[in-house]
Amino acid sequence: MIKAVDDEMKIFAGRACPELAKQICDYLGMALGKAEVGRFPDGELNVKLDEDVRGRDVFLVQSTCPPVNENLMELLLMVDSARRASASSITAVIPYYGYARKDRKDEGRVPIAAKLVANMLTVAGTDRVLALDLHATQIQGFFDIPVDHLYSFPVIVEYLREKAIEDLVLVAPDIGRVRMANAYSRALGAPLAMVEKRRESPDSAKVGFVIGDVRDKNVLLVDDIIATGGTIAIAAHTLKEAGARQISVAAVHPVFCGPVAERLLAAPIDEVVVTDTIPLNDLARSMGEKIKVLSVGRLLGEAMRRIHCNESVSLLFDQFNRE
Ligand code: R5P
Repeated sequence: MIKAVDDEMKIFAGRACPELAKQICDYLGMALGKAEVGRFPDGELNVKLDEDVRGRDVFLVQSTCPPVNENLMELLLMVDSARRASASSITAVIPYYGYARKDRKDEGRVPIAAKLVANMLTVAGTDRVLALDLHATQIQGFFDIPVDHLYSFPVIVEYLREKAIEDLVLVAPDIGRVRMANAYSRALGAPLAMVEKRRESPDSAKVGFVIGDVRDKNVLLVDDIIATGGTIAIAAHTLKEAGARQISVAAVHPVFCGPVAERLLAAPIDEVVVTDTIPLNDLARSMGEKIKVLSVGRLLGEAMRRIHCNESVSLLFDQFNRE
């Protein structure tokens, strides 16, 4: 816990990640603001901030994880409430930014959902966004308000350094995560490899090919999201066939949906490390001892303190960008 910030700062949380909000408040030595989220008889959401926010820096902590539409609407209603209650500034703290995977128009007649979400947050009255491990960094540019984009990298690296895995190789499970795996590889002083996924024919399942040397090595796969587990499971099977010894996974956002549990439990994976940007659901908990959760509460709390005190936040994300 650090010294309490002044009364000019208020933190409220929606229902998506209350435990993480508590971790943030514990770090800052302050109480979570009281808020009510209710429902009208027809199912519509209703929100009320139960504390005075006039002239305060208001931080609203909400991951837009499943149920994504509910959580997003809840956040929008909280932003609107704070704006209409004359908050001095409103920062949306979004540990997991949903709809991020639809970040470009890759075929005709489809939306760019990540941009639409940015528009909605801005129109509602958000002044600033604090996000963590956005699926695509260009989402920052979808906003015309300041976006502080942090990485959980220092939290995960600290854990991995303590584990001191011998003969380690960092592996990107697909080409999109090479930069991320490279940052970990440099920080941990371990070599880098990647798995490339391909379809052998239009009607066959995807198979992977390893680029790099993993034979008799302990492997750490890094990714930003585990959703259905397909990407990580294919990569793990491919790495095992290529002679890897123990295989661990570090992924930031535990979305965990669909067939994820059976895929990951059937894959040759010893440990899955995730963060608390999304609370573990039943599918994630079915991984039992194999799943390890690291908290990003201190990291986000420190960023929020710096934003409130007008101190530089870049120190908190420079490390990843340098690697
Ligand atoms: C892909 O670009 C992402 O980095 C993740 O690999 C992907 O979203 C994971 O999804 P799933 O677990 O469904 O394969």
